[in-house]
Amino acid sequence: MPFPVDRPRRLRATESLRRLVRETRLAPENFILPLFVVEGEGIRKEISSMPGNHQMSVDHLVRECEEVRSLGIGGIILFGIPKHKDEQASEAYNPAGITQEAVRAIKSAVPDLLVITDVCNCEYTSHGHCGKIVNGEVDNDATLEWLAAAAVTHAQAGADIVAPSDMMDGRVAAIRAALDQAGFAHTPILSYAAKYASAFYGPFREAAESAPQFGDRRGYQMDPANAREALREMDLDLDEGADMLMVKPAGPYLDILRMARDRYDVPLAAYQVSGEFSMIMAAARNGWIDLDRAMIESLTSIRRAGADFILTYFAKPAAKLLG
Ligand code: PBG
Repeated sequence: MPFPVDRPRRLRATESLRRLVRETRLAPENFILPLFVVEGEGIRKEISSMPGNHQMSVDHLVRECEEVRSLGIGGIILFGIPKHKDEQASEAYNPAGITQEAVRAIKSAVPDLLVITDVCNCEYTSHGHCGKIVNGEVDNDATLEWLAAAAVTHAQAGADIVAPSDMMDGRVAAIRAALDQAGFAHTPILSYAAKYASAFYGPFREAAESAPQFGDRRGYQMDPANAREALREMDLDLDEGADMLMVKPAGPYLDILRMARDRYDVPLAAYQVSGEFSMIMAAARNGWIDLDRAMIESLTSIRRAGADFILTYFAKPAAKLLG
């Protein structure tokens, strides 16, 4: 029945009505907080381009994890930043490396906090690329060995989930085989399946000290113009044994998330990356937008597009607001 019988505004009149008919819900358990761990002690250094986020040594990191746990946040994803970087990314798969040490410390202090580890080499190589350089290029197959070895050391340290973010071909299969062989058949893989070569990673590279020293990542990360290719990447990763898929960045790629949601039944993650966070923070600090509303709206949109959970630097303030 058209107007005047049909009036959509009826259901928008009060907050209690709006709450009743709301289609998309946000809860703290939908969020994963990215954390950056450095070697040393007593370090808690704010990342200038990401207000409220810090590089932390393990002692501070453990305290942060206790707070994350008490806020009901779904978990954390850990990025290790070693002092020593070399051509072989040695610290990435060192069982006594900073990431592995941090996982052990968190798991002993806050055992029920879900810990995901990012599996990549760019924080560990002297050149900042995500793999082994052979003749000026990132060599795909040689890099797989490093990734598989790193994933196994993360699982041994107690990681609940490993998340490869390097975009090498075949990495999910290589990691699955290595985990199974090492006795970790039950460790899930969250694949950064559709990861784009994005300008929105800018602030992260300051946080993780992982900017490439030459060239860029367009030879392995995806072209922002491509959507069908994202589905192909996701099909391949599922075939190779990925348990969950991720789309990254999130906000500028909601169409990809929606296509993935319609096509796959596995859990879907989205990464609201550093640049998405920093843009909202910067505009809010200028008084141009309302921080709380922009934060919640951006997260709601990512869930509405189809994400089950969101990796976001807003995890703590959003959880506080929702709680
Ligand atoms: C690679 C990695 C990156 C991010 C997560 N994992 C950076 C890159 O590909 O250069 C970016 C996350 C963000 O911007 O918040 N290990």
